[in-house]
Amino acid sequence: MTDLTTLESDLAAQVAAAGDLAALEAVRVAALGKTGQVSLLLKSLGAMSPDERRERGPLINGLRDRLTALIAGRRATLEAAALEAQLAAERVDLTLPAPPRRKGSVHPTMQVMDEMIAVFAEMGFSVAEGPDIEDDFHNFTGLNFPPRHPAREMHDTFFFGPGEDGERKLLRTHTSPIQVRVMRQTNEKPAAPQWASGQAPPIRIIGPGRTYRCDSDRTHTPMFHQMEGLVIDRNIHMGHLKWTLDAFCRRFFETDAVVTRFRPHHFPFTEPSAEMDVQCDRSGGSVKIGEGSDWLEILGGGMVHPNILRTCGLDPDEWQGFAFGMGIDRLGMLKYGMPDLREVFGADVRWLAHYGFSAFQAPNLASGLS
Ligand code: PHE
Repeated sequence: MTDLTTLESDLAAQVAAAGDLAALEAVRVAALGKTGQVSLLLKSLGAMSPDERRERGPLINGLRDRLTALIAGRRATLEAAALEAQLAAERVDLTLPAPPRRKGSVHPTMQVMDEMIAVFAEMGFSVAEGPDIEDDFHNFTGLNFPPRHPAREMHDTFFFGPGEDGERKLLRTHTSPIQVRVMRQTNEKPAAPQWASGQAPPIRIIGPGRTYRCDSDRTHTPMFHQMEGLVIDRNIHMGHLKWTLDAFCRRFFETDAVVTRFRPHHFPFTEPSAEMDVQCDRSGGSVKIGEGSDWLEILGGGMVHPNILRTCGLDPDEWQGFAFGMGIDRLGMLKYGMPDLREVFGADVRWLAHYGFSAFQAPNLASGLS
């Protein structure tokens, strides 16, 4: 009797003292396991006389049942505490700010291209395109470059190896081939019919795209962007060209203070020809348009050479026109103060994060154009 009572209170104390599930399991095994104290007592019943068994049996079974219930209760308490601790440790603090996510941005060249298209579209120009890989005819011969003329060398052309017909394709050195493609009549079966393939005058197009020359310094990269302009109509003259470009500059730079200058120049495909510079001040690290004594050349232009009109099936006595080609990246450098053209194509995400534009703003709004 007494030994059972002592054993029960002793085991009950051990159950209450078990601090975690492992300790509780150790107590259970020591009491109720195969060779546990209580199990051995139960086993000893078999060796007892029937009278003794009748007396001890209920006592030992009662002890086993109460102990089992006690352990189950303690286990439930410990499991609840363990779950509580785990929940506390894994708690998610919803008030913490989310980790920053890097957002992509619109490359300044694409932004500037869209802004330029927006300005010319307001003036009634539509967009034409041509292939980056050109043939000699569209890049040179059709544009009045005489064979072996040094101007071909001036362009530092990237040539491909000769094809099956012996002809060497090239990466276009300017967007002027688009002029020829637009003016040539459809019935002349252009080499790549998916590109701009002939349009009758009047013509008023711009042709933006990538251009390539073997050249690299602060203001030159082997790949850059140009936008061609072409207007063909009756009685077009240099005055129209100057007005169009001045109006474009005021609108694009969003200030009437823009000062431009035309310098006489030579292009095989225009006569007369000129280059246009924009006045700017680059002394203080930032670029100010219309101030200072720096000039940055942004385009070449002139009156379309009669030979080209003839090559494209247009009578120069009936049709005249002007053409220009401007550097898109150069205009971006000027407008957004980017000092080195090489960085523009460096694909440095820090540079892009600084100079890039939000993709969720319409291009003509980001710059204040409306
Ligand atoms: N294609 C010339 C260049 O790349 C620019 C130009 C275009 C000049 C049209 C006159 C007319 O330098």
